[in-house]
Amino acid sequence: MIRDLIKKNHSYRRFDSSVKIEPSAIEKWIELARFSPSARNLQPLKFAFSTDESINKLILPHLGWAGYLKDWSGPEEGERPVAYIAVLQDKSLTENVHCDDGIAVQSILLGAVEDGFGGCIIGTVNKSKVAKIFKLPGTLEILWIIALGKPLEKVVIETTTGNEIKYWRDKEDVHHVPKRPLDELIFKKV
Ligand SMILES: Cc1cc2nc3c(=O)[nH]c(=O)nc-3n(C[C@H](O)[C@H](O)[C@H](O)COP(=O)(O)O)c2cc1C
Repeated sequence: MIRDLIKKNHSYRRFDSSVKIEPSAIEKWIELARFSPSARNLQPLKFAFSTDESINKLILPHLGWAGYLKDWSGPEEGERPVAYIAVLQDKSLTENVHCDDGIAVQSILLGAVEDGFGGCIIGTVNKSKVAKIFKLPGTLEILWIIALGKPLEKVVIETTTGNEIKYWRDKEDVHHVPKRPLDELIFKKV
């Protein structure tokens, strides 16, 4: 089951905007982050989220989409995310979240995929602009934005030979993601 979920959890960047996500579903996925490991059990992450169309419209221009796809500037009307989660570091608790954020984000995305949704981690964020939209205090710093919705696009995983790691889209708009082969990842078996 977890293997299937992880394999289905692609980065989705185009969604069916007519399918909304209930705030209760987002809360349920964030709760998965709550159950996840935390260095020194400090639990320094906080979250802000929006399912509000007018707020989502304000957030979208401050996100950078698919840097390798030079002829695509992001999802168009009708294909835009219906929700965003801002993953926040509570600076009043720690200056170092170790890898709590990565674990939390993956937990959230796996929850979304299990419920028939999907998303994309966005690190290219104009943080000060999005912080203003969420009216965040100075103690909460944006680490990542997770864009969410009902995936529209087809994503296929390929095994790369050599060093070609850039994802690409074909004429049918299928998104191809090259992954390095397993025997390249496993440096040593003893
Ligand atoms: C830390 C992190 C930051 C990312 N930032 C962005 C981003 O700013 N914009 C974007 O479109 N995708 C972003 N991605 C998605 C990656 O491009 C994606 O994970 C990669 O292409 C592999 O595809 P896959 O997630 O479908 O396996 C990010 C992923 C991670 C883990």
